[in-house]
Amino acid sequence: MNDAAQHKWWQTGIIYEIYLRSFQDSNNDGIGDLRGIINRLDYLQWLGVNILWITPFYPSPMKDFGYDISDYTAVDSRFGDMQDFDDLVAEVHRHNMKLVIDFVPNHTSDQHHWFKESRSSRFNLKRDWYIWQTPAHGKSPNNWLSVLGGSAWQWEELTQQYYYHAFLKEQPDLDLTNAEVMNAISDVMRFWLSKGVDGFRVDVMWHLAKDKLLRDNPVNPNYKPSMPDCDRLQQIYSCDRPEVHEVIAQLRKVLDEYDDRVMMGEIYLSPDKTIPYYGEKNNEAHLPSNFQLLFIPWKAKDISGAIEEYEALLPKDAWPNWAIGNHDRARLISRISKDQTRNAAILLLTLRGTPVLYYGDEIGIPQVQIPKEEVQDPQGLLMPDKGLSRDPQRTPMQWDKSLNAGFTRAKPWLRLSNDYQEQNVEVQSKDDESLLSFYKRMIALRQSEPSLMYGSYSEVFSDENILAYTRQSVLGDTFLIVLNFTDEKHLFSHAQRLEGSIEIATDAKWDGLIFGNELDIEPNMGLVIRLDK
Ligand code: GLC
Repeated sequence: MNDAAQHKWWQTGIIYEIYLRSFQDSNNDGIGDLRGIINRLDYLQWLGVNILWITPFYPSPMKDFGYDISDYTAVDSRFGDMQDFDDLVAEVHRHNMKLVIDFVPNHTSDQHHWFKESRSSRFNLKRDWYIWQTPAHGKSPNNWLSVLGGSAWQWEELTQQYYYHAFLKEQPDLDLTNAEVMNAISDVMRFWLSKGVDGFRVDVMWHLAKDKLLRDNPVNPNYKPSMPDCDRLQQIYSCDRPEVHEVIAQLRKVLDEYDDRVMMGEIYLSPDKTIPYYGEKNNEAHLPSNFQLLFIPWKAKDISGAIEEYEALLPKDAWPNWAIGNHDRARLISRISKDQTRNAAILLLTLRGTPVLYYGDEIGIPQVQIPKEEVQDPQGLLMPDKGLSRDPQRTPMQWDKSLNAGFTRAKPWLRLSNDYQEQNVEVQSKDDESLLSFYKRMIALRQSEPSLMYGSYSEVFSDENILAYTRQSVLGDTFLIVLNFTDEKHLFSHAQRLEGSIEIATDAKWDGLIFGNELDIEPNMGLVIRLDK
């Protein structure tokens, strides 16, 4: 297929995740907000990304910074109001972009009126909207552990039962296999879809159904103390249940009542277990998240293997996606070496599949050390010794060199990286050699070349050091991408004679024409070569 019209916007676009609290504060309370995003749309358009995913903006006690929702169909006053949201939808569309919102159907806040009713009595009509259990032999119903530490069961004195929470005790899990809950959640989706949102990023999709028999999870023989507590167990009964697919298919049905919307799914599973989330008939998530680049070693062989495996597993008509950062994982530049950040940009923007970028990675915001007394993330507070706080990757966007990088004039909710006076959008946008300018060029190239947007992928070569592959359109337009993952020079040799020109290189001084079978690849070098036809 070469015709753009045959591809959906979420296949040809580039997704940019905005961590709302940290993007732009417009009312100087130290917290990012919806109006702040509106004020920065020109920047995002200039950068060339065209699908914005924004993290939760709903009323919330903020125990998990918005992933604990107390009202699914309103806007938290810290982030603005419904008029701001409507303006955001209109302005995003006016900028020819799409808006995807975070959607958290797995759990509510314990302050949601559904849960308040549910917990009020065993006979309440909403009791079965959540997962309540009587103690087994005086103890919690089973051994399931919360992702954020400790037992996943919380005892309620009032009604003498436990409720299940996969995350914080303030985030009780809904039972989406209950038809009333599914109806209520479907109406929430319709509410936002009718407002014109272009889709949802469904939070913790692989958690959406639990074993009805509540069987104990088996012990994980591969557990290491550095892992989160919940990894002591293999979560085979609490997550990734066969029943989950029916739940997701129902959510998808609601989405499909509207034209041309998208469903992304957050799924932390191995590729073979993630693929079923496309649905047997492609009737579940359009984009079940592919997080491999967040975990595998940054080495040519590992990356080559991950791409091959994923490409081979993808069912017919399923569209790939690749993420390189998000608000739950360490910042890209700190995960890999600084010298590899441009190669990461080339890789992400030349792989087959929708790229997912995390705000600030385009200017190289690093992990920011947050002193103990300033830690905000519950995961950091509940497991202080494991280095799992997510604050370091959630620091405010660095716009310019003014106070607090132009993010806010008040005290920011989280401290900024102290390099913000040198590393910010304003400085980097004026510098042709900056990481930001590099991203902009790569994005523009991808978006103007059918071969890079939806051409075929073939590996040409890989060893311990170098990965090389082509992307080719049906008309035969071909790009050869060569990436050196090491800080040593290596020779790349190719059976066929190569003829072409360097379109983009990690260092601007490498340009010009390519002839012959061999190329000397400098340390950390990445090349995007347009091959002659
Ligand atoms: C998802 C979110 C994460 C949140 C969790 C619980 O993993 O990305 O930030 O803590 O769900 O809602």
